[in-house]
Amino acid sequence: MNHKPLSQMTVEELERTIEFHDYQYWVLAAPVISDEEYDLLHRALKECHPDSPVLNRVGYDAHDPATFGNKVVHDRPMLSLDKCYSDEEFNRWLDFIQRTVTGGLESGLLASDPGPASGLTVAVSPKVDGVAAALTYDETGQLVRAATRGDGRMGEDFTLNARLVAGIPWQVDNGPIEVRGEVYMASSVFSARYAKAFSNPRNLTAGTLKQKEGNRQQLLDLTFAAYDLLGTEAAGEKDKARLLQGQGFLPVESVYTLASEGAAQYQQALEQRKQWDFEADGIVIKLEATALHELLGGTAHHPRYAIAYKFQGDTGFTRLVDVIWKVSRTATITPVANVEPVALSGAMVSRSTLHNIGIFNALGLKVGDKVQVTRRGGVIPNIEASLGGGETPVEVPTKCPSCGAETLLAAPQCFVSGFRLSRSADSEELQAVVRHQKSLPGGAGILQSVMDVGNRLARKNGDGRYQKTLTWKRGDDLQVRRGIVGRLNGLPSIRHRQAEMLVLLVLDPRIEQSWQWLEMLASQVVPHLLDVRILMVPHSRFDSPEPKAEVQPLLATGGNVGFLEQVKLFRPGIHKAAGAHAVMQEGKGESSLSDNASLAYSLSDDLLSCSAPAACRDARVGSLEHFIRTIGVDGFGPKVLENLYDNGLLTTEHDFFTLHPEHLVQLDRMGEILANKLVEQVHNSATMELAVFLRALGIDELARHVSSLLQKEYGDLESVLGLDEEQLAGHDSIAFGIAHQVVHGLRKNQQRIAGLLPYVALSRPQVTEEGTELPFGGKSFVFTGKMATLGRKQAQEKVREMGGETPSGVTTDLTWLVIGDSGSPLFGEGKKGSKMLKAEKYNTAGSQIGIISETRFLEMLKESQ
Ligand code: IVH
Repeated sequence: MNHKPLSQMTVEELERTIEFHDYQYWVLAAPVISDEEYDLLHRALKECHPDSPVLNRVGYDAHDPATFGNKVVHDRPMLSLDKCYSDEEFNRWLDFIQRTVTGGLESGLLASDPGPASGLTVAVSPKVDGVAAALTYDETGQLVRAATRGDGRMGEDFTLNARLVAGIPWQVDNGPIEVRGEVYMASSVFSARYAKAFSNPRNLTAGTLKQKEGNRQQLLDLTFAAYDLLGTEAAGEKDKARLLQGQGFLPVESVYTLASEGAAQYQQALEQRKQWDFEADGIVIKLEATALHELLGGTAHHPRYAIAYKFQGDTGFTRLVDVIWKVSRTATITPVANVEPVALSGAMVSRSTLHNIGIFNALGLKVGDKVQVTRRGGVIPNIEASLGGGETPVEVPTKCPSCGAETLLAAPQCFVSGFRLSRSADSEELQAVVRHQKSLPGGAGILQSVMDVGNRLARKNGDGRYQKTLTWKRGDDLQVRRGIVGRLNGLPSIRHRQAEMLVLLVLDPRIEQSWQWLEMLASQVVPHLLDVRILMVPHSRFDSPEPKAEVQPLLATGGNVGFLEQVKLFRPGIHKAAGAHAVMQEGKGESSLSDNASLAYSLSDDLLSCSAPAACRDARVGSLEHFIRTIGVDGFGPKVLENLYDNGLLTTEHDFFTLHPEHLVQLDRMGEILANKLVEQVHNSATMELAVFLRALGIDELARHVSSLLQKEYGDLESVLGLDEEQLAGHDSIAFGIAHQVVHGLRKNQQRIAGLLPYVALSRPQVTEEGTELPFGGKSFVFTGKMATLGRKQAQEKVREMGGETPSGVTTDLTWLVIGDSGSPLFGEGKKGSKMLKAEKYNTAGSQIGIISETRFLEMLKESQ
């Protein structure tokens, strides 16, 4: 693994090397060095670091896939909580505490009088709605087991996956300990990445933890919030939280207050819950002092020192009236359910999105069905299940409900042989990606690129810590090896937000070394990384336009941990393995790149769309709305736009600039004053920044990040239009598939752009410091509610200093809406204002606006500095 002489290896390198060989030996049962060589490594490490935990380890338990999914009996059962639903019930619990405390004093079990129960300190925290889990660390502080709660007595092992979850350190300073908490997916992450494909974050979390060959991206998107620490002598809940934080956990946020405040805390939580970046089904109120926990004891079901005060009315049952099909500006057709109105979390619900055709099919709805509707996190209504009873099946439209063109079923996005392609990938895009790989200079027959996309994750989270590691590496064997090993060695230091890396390799299968590379990658890199995808392409494909007959056509693709098996299948004549990827199975031994592209993208059929978006009224009106909103004009609502479109007054974007008040007053409910105002607004917005203009076009993947980058790097439209994908993909943060999409999108829209140019003026972009990538670049923030710490102006200034934008209102492509918390850091006093309602509405319609608290915003600021 490492060419260095033993004497020159650092402790870190020795530890990693031993771990690598442990993995080879214990997990893969395929040692690559002799016992003597292994002993030498051990001895060398013992000499320079006798206390290294790696020396005391037997086997490779912590990462052993063999234990994954096993049933696990908890040393101490993971109990439930007693629940209450009203202040009355809560006060009854307090009375009970009072009686027990008095009894404790009388019997001498309690040494000193803590005073009346209502004056006891309690810890109040959100009851996070995720998957409860227990983490066991051994005496060396190593994470040896992560298990779900299961039925409380017995859960399931998910240690293998736990390493990628944020807030689960692999190693702590003081073992042995057990830490309990909740694994969840942040609501902002769910809505940004998964809401279209999955119905709710809790099920997605449970499913993600369960998958043996887990989806690394999904695992990285999970967080563990710790709420209990066993095995220490903590004096109380506050002390536990402090100890947990010190060991690298993320303790659930708590407010410490008097028990008499419990009911008031509940009221505050009700208001604040919409701003929490996770789903919660109540609050948990726990007595602070450990001494009281012991005095109070518990039942087999729950301890008595704590109670869950649950939110009510989030779920209800109603009937499905019908399903309507809405066409978005991108021509996607989304099913939306109309239900008989039902009161949920204080609001009447009569409509719920069914997300996409995949989720719709899975529900198997019939008109008249009794359905369970939940406002998860008290916000967006969702149909969770159908209880049947209806008769008429809901037909999936074969014609677009807006324009009558044929509908299409297509993959939302696909992975082919290593490349994340854009949503509307086609074989042309795949081939462009491959051509790009070809153009990279390679040594010794190996083209390779290592891309650390951790930076993208880091940027998304406003976290600048890992940005420096973003590089493209290419070169000869040694450089490649060094690059990968170097990154491996860097991994242990990234404990809390583990590395998200994607390795793309293009290898020539005729070269023996390629196979060695693969094996090394499989054993060393794969267990640590987000994703490894391998594309094996004979060089001849690159060298000549026609494939040469004598070269084995060989395309292999890899998933995650198990990919070595899959790849072996394609090592000509040597290996055989079952369960190959569909792309390969159908490859029939003779395949071309384009065959594989089309095969791959027929694998999934999750999106329904209109086949003729250019002439589709709803898609067009949606595009026009996107354009006019993005350039900052608020007054054109959907009704006005439909009316203008139907009357032929507005068909394409530049028509906005030739609208006259006389045109507008012809419309229903349009007075002269409003008509004049709208026309004036349009003219006032005709001068815009380049980035705004580019975004307003609504081209796939040309959203905030890419448009800001184009503005910053190229400055004027002409240069942007002259770009090719190679140039654009040269930027670290732009994947090739995205570059392709943007460049082609711009080309396809040339006419639209030319039509607009006589009417708009593109202002000089604001120049930022040369060569610096600002942490909030490409992000936008809108603030609402009363801020507890910074003034709103100050907050906006901070954002702008860090390269972000601060538009005045909520738009569909806003990145973050920050809700001020005044008062306590957890439960502020802000009310749900119009900005928040607007953001929620846009999110229901497919936008991805993150709604976060002031506290989270402050953390982002801190992390980015
Ligand atoms: S304290 C005896 N605090 O709620 C258990 N639990 O119904 C003491 N939960 O299984 C748990 N958020 O998984 C506690 N802030 C929080 C919590 C929390 C969620 C879950 C926990 C438990 C369930 C009890």
